[in-house]
Order: sequence, then C-alpha cells, then structure tokens
Amino acid sequence: MNKRYFIVSLLIGITTFHMACTAQPITPARPAPAAAAPAAAAKSPDSDPLAFHRLHKPSGKRNRPPAEDGIHDPGNDGTHALLAPLSVFPSLPKANSGNRVDWVQALAAGTIKPRADQADATEEIVVMDLNIVREVKGSMPNVVYPHKQHTEWLDCSNCHPGIFVPLKGANQMSMAAIMLGQQCGVCHGKVAFSISECRKCHSQSKEPNPAPAAK
Ligand code: HEC
Ligand code: HEC
Ligand code: HEC
Repeated sequence: MNKRYFIVSLLIGITTFHMACTAQPITPARPAPAAAAPAAAAKSPDSDPLAFHRLHKPSGKRNRPPAEDGIHDPGNDGTHALLAPLSVFPSLPKANSGNRVDWVQALAAGTIKPRADQADATEEIVVMDLNIVREVKGSMPNVVYPHKQHTEWLDCSNCHPGIFVPLKGANQMSMAAIMLGQQCGVCHGKVAFSISECRKCHSQSKEPNPAPAAK
C-alpha cells in the first residue's frame, strides 16, 4: 500500500473512532465502529436528544404546576389559582402523546364536563354529528374528519370559514401543510392530539391491496 495513503486513512480512522467515542448525536460521515452503540445507550433521561422540544418533555418534566411550566406567569396571582395538572391527570383516560390525556374519552366518559359558555353555566353546547371522509392517495388509510368530537369542544366559527370553507372537498389539504401548522395542524400538535397519532385521523381502511402485478 502507498505510504501516504496509509497515513491518511489511519488519520481518518482515528478521527472517526474519536467522533464515535464522544458520541455526538450527529451521523458520522462513514459507518461508526460498534463502540458508538453502548455509549449512546448509556444516556441519562436528562440528555434526551428531544429535550429542547417543548412538546417532547422527558417524563419527569411533563405537566408541571402552572407556576413552573414556563407558560404561565408565576408573578400573577391567577396562575396560583389554577389546578396543578398532575393532581387531576392520573384519574383521566390515558393517551400516548401530548399531555398524555385522551380528552375525547374523558368527555365521553363524563369524567370532565366543560362549560359551553364561560359566563353562563346553563348554556348547552351545539353538537353536530357529520363525518367527512377525505380520500388519500396511496396506501395510507382515508381520513375521517368527525364534526361530533370537534363540536363537543368548539364553535363552528373556530373553523368556518377562517380555516375551512364549509363545503365537502372545497379545501385543498395535505400532510405537508398540516405539519407546517395549517389546516388540521392549526390545533393538532398544539392544543389537540399530536400529528404522530396517524391512525386517529387516517382511520378508514381501504380495500385490501390488489395482488401486485407480475414483473
Ligand atoms: C375543527 C374544525 C371544524 C369545526 C369546529 C366545524 N367544522 Fe364543519 N367542516 C370542517 C371540515 C374539515 C370540513 C370538510 C371540508 C372539506 O372537505 O373540504 C367541514 C365541512 C362542513 C360542511 C360541508 C358538508 C358537506 O357535505 O359539504 C358543513 C355544512 C359544515 N362543515 C358545517 C359546520 C357547522 C354547522 C359547524 C358547527 C356546528 C361546523 N361545521 C364545525 C371542519 C370543522
Ligand atoms: C390531525 C389529522 C391527521 C394526522 C394526525 C395525520 N394525518 Fe395524514 N393527512 C391528514 C389530512 C387531512 C390529509 C389530506 C387528505 C386529503 O387529501 O384530503 C392527510 C394526507 C396524508 C397523506 C397523503 C399525501 C399528503 O401528503 O397529503 C399521507 C401519506 C399521510 N397523510 C400520512 C400520514 C402519516 C404517516 C401520519 C402520522 C405520522 C399522518 N398522516 C397523521 C390528516 C392527518
Ligand atoms: C380548531 C381546532 C381543530 C382543528 C382545526 C382540527 N381539530 Fe381535530 N380535534 C380538535 C380538538 C380540540 C379535539 C378533541 C381533543 C383531542 O382529541 O385532543 C379534536 C379531535 C379530533 C378527532 C377525534 C379523535 C378521537 O379520539 O376520537 C379527530 C379524528 C380529529 N380531531 C381529526 C381532525 C382532522 C382530520 C382535522 C383537519 C381536517 C382536524 N381534526 C382539525 C381540534 C381541532
């Protein structure tokens, strides 16, 4: 082997090994030696690579009391009048993401009973039961948009006409726009269940795939 080539590849080898040992969560330019795996697995929950993300709090830091949650002003007396989430959440139905509560189930089971109107406790909410099916190309199940579960929480004017024109098929929708916080993403991933729960929206199975054509 050419001597200069040998030295260069030795240097690259050492650099790669060093990068792997310091276990930076960056993908190395070349396959990392096996030494990288145990180093990454030994991480404490505090070095969670998603720790920077306000919606992916490590389990011990989720649902802090209002004065410590970084959202409410601890200097405001009203903040201290609010219930601490963890004093209530353990008794509510569980979900896999967000604040880990299945709010649709909680409402259906009668565990919570939100007011329809802030000032008038006797006001009844107007629920509309109308499903809108949005066909999705490819193998992903179709989207079923349920008016019922939405109008149990929201007013028509929360969506119509600002976010959606009230006419089936009149709105162009796409996953990309939703991920950018538009359309369903105005709420989902923020105040309603997360975008990672694909099956909650993509809930209508299609006909089984036809047998693949012979090549
Ligand atoms: C959370 C958002 C949201 C809320 C709240 C909401 N809608 Fe809708 N609505 C939609 C979406 C999404 C569609 C489907 C639009 C499409 O297919 O392009 C739709 C469609 C409609 C349609 C068209 C149905 C059809 O067959 O063409 C009507 C009418 C409608 N909504 C009325 C209402 C009324 C009345 C309320 C309140 C009781 C309401 N909506 C509350 C999101 C909402
Ligand atoms: C909050 C509801 C919601 C969630 C959650 C959701 N989707 Fe979608 N998805 C939609 C809607 C609405 C459309 C647009 C349907 C149409 O064309 O009318 C869509 C469209 C799609 C499409 C078709 C192509 C495109 O980009 O528009 C794919 C593929 C897709 N979603 C995959 C996923 C996957 C994978 C997940 C989970 C990581 C997911 N979706 C979660 C609502 C959702
Ligand atoms: C204005 C806010 C808002 C918009 C826009 C919105 N949603 Fe929702 N959605 C909610 C809330 C609030 C709930 C009930 C709480 C929860 O499930 O997190 C909900 C619940 C649902 C549920 C019921 C899930 C269950 O467990 O039964 C489905 C399905 C759903 N949304 C799909 C969609 C789709 C698809 C779109 C876009 C076409 C959409 N939503 C747009 C706020 C919204």
